[in-house]
Amino acid sequence: MANVAVVGMQWGDEGKGKIIDLLCPAFDAVVRFQGGNNAGHTVKFGSGEGDEHFALHLIPSGILHEGVACYLGNGMVINPDAFLAEVAQLERRGIETAGRLRLSDRAHALTPVHVALDIVREEARGADRIGTTAKGIGPAYESKIGRTGIRLAELVAGGEAMRNRQIVRVADFERPAAEGAELDPEAAAEDFTRWAERLSPYLCDLSVELDGLIRNGRTVLFEGAQGALLDVDHGTYPYVTSSNSTTGGAATGSGVPPTAIDGAIGVVKAYTTRVGEGPMPTELVDDVGLHLRDRGHEFGTTTGRPRRCGWLDLVVLRHASRVNGARCLALTKIDVLDELEELRVCVAYRIGGEVVRNLPAVTDRLEAAEPIYRTFPGWKQDTRGVLDRSDLPQAALDYIDFLEQELEASADLISSGPRREETVVSGGGALGEWLGDRFGTVQAAVGG
Ligand code: GDP
Ligand code: IMO
Ligand code: MG
Repeated sequence: MANVAVVGMQWGDEGKGKIIDLLCPAFDAVVRFQGGNNAGHTVKFGSGEGDEHFALHLIPSGILHEGVACYLGNGMVINPDAFLAEVAQLERRGIETAGRLRLSDRAHALTPVHVALDIVREEARGADRIGTTAKGIGPAYESKIGRTGIRLAELVAGGEAMRNRQIVRVADFERPAAEGAELDPEAAAEDFTRWAERLSPYLCDLSVELDGLIRNGRTVLFEGAQGALLDVDHGTYPYVTSSNSTTGGAATGSGVPPTAIDGAIGVVKAYTTRVGEGPMPTELVDDVGLHLRDRGHEFGTTTGRPRRCGWLDLVVLRHASRVNGARCLALTKIDVLDELEELRVCVAYRIGGEVVRNLPAVTDRLEAAEPIYRTFPGWKQDTRGVLDRSDLPQAALDYIDFLEQELEASADLISSGPRREETVVSGGGALGEWLGDRFGTVQAAVGG
């Protein structure tokens, strides 16, 4: 058995929540390692009246499986009220979190200052806005990197260290005020006291905890949020989020060495979507784009915004695959393509007469990129809920084979519906090798 990271390979919303939920029974622990409640991970299972639907923002998608320990890593920024609300919501629906949900004591608190700053900054940027989720993510990471942030351990400890931090934060309060955000220092002080009390039972030294688990032969799944193209270093900067959402972030964001992560599963949506601003070379602003949005229900899980839709982009995917080291793919939403006459895959860009196969670093070049497409026939057949790869139409298999060859990885998971049960799981590739004798638990989760 191995420790594996599951990461998004595009601009987020690839279906990571579904895939992580499906894989969790084969692991002892799940760790979110970056981001905050900008993420929205959907998990669905059952059918008919017993149908269950969860949208998770901070808490790992493993929480729906009893027996799986869930951790929020040091690489995250945590809005305490959002965390407590999510716990309460899960408990109302009968999901026990006591004793199996923990927060890294080194994670940073995301406070109302950060949310206010996010909103005024976006307004001030006007046409250049990023299109953030308005959850305060960028400003919270600014505080962290600028060394004025408050880590949960400090928040809970109170005392002199916390008082000193609050003095530093006075400057942090002046800044948003200067930028036009309304803030109430008294309310903030009350918040801190309440959070200290409520969060204290959840804190742990995550690096020590994970080291203990791994030494005892337990296995860990690292849950990525967002996607490679939103990674602050490897994404379409500045139209990115403020954390490292690629595999490397799993080590720094949880306190395990990179050598403890045995592999990465790249989650790839069978077409491309993006929510927020920034370049997207294969975007379709025509009927096909609308069809994908409609059929794929492409509206943000966190903000409800419509997602921009387009063809699959191999320039994007080769980049994501290289940075993540994704030997295994989870291909999702293949059923959304069922009705199309033909499909296109972008194999390279033409930029100013030049053919480009690697993702340019400069936004202007990416904005100017014209996709060079390879066309595939559509399958015009219902694939929803297929459980065996050989039951997929030949045209779908050709599309998948092409992707596997280009990315030098095997699509060991192929998803053709939002539910846990609607997945083809193959044991012959990297996934089977990593899961070993626990592969059967994943097959059981899809009812196979
Ligand atoms: P995440 O952020 O990567 O976890 O993805 P989201 O949950 O934000 O968005 C993925 C959406 O697609 C959710 O509404 C899922 O229920 C849905 N979904 C996931 N896999 C499939 C699939 O194979 N087919 C269809 N039709 N929907 C899917
Ligand atoms: P999951 O985990 C899709 C996008 C925002 C915006 C940019 C910066 O569900 O895949 P931020 O609020 O992070 O400062 O916004 O990143 N974004 C996402 N897009 N899925 C997500 O998460 C996202 N989290 C942030 O739309 O373009
Ligand atoms: Mg999402």
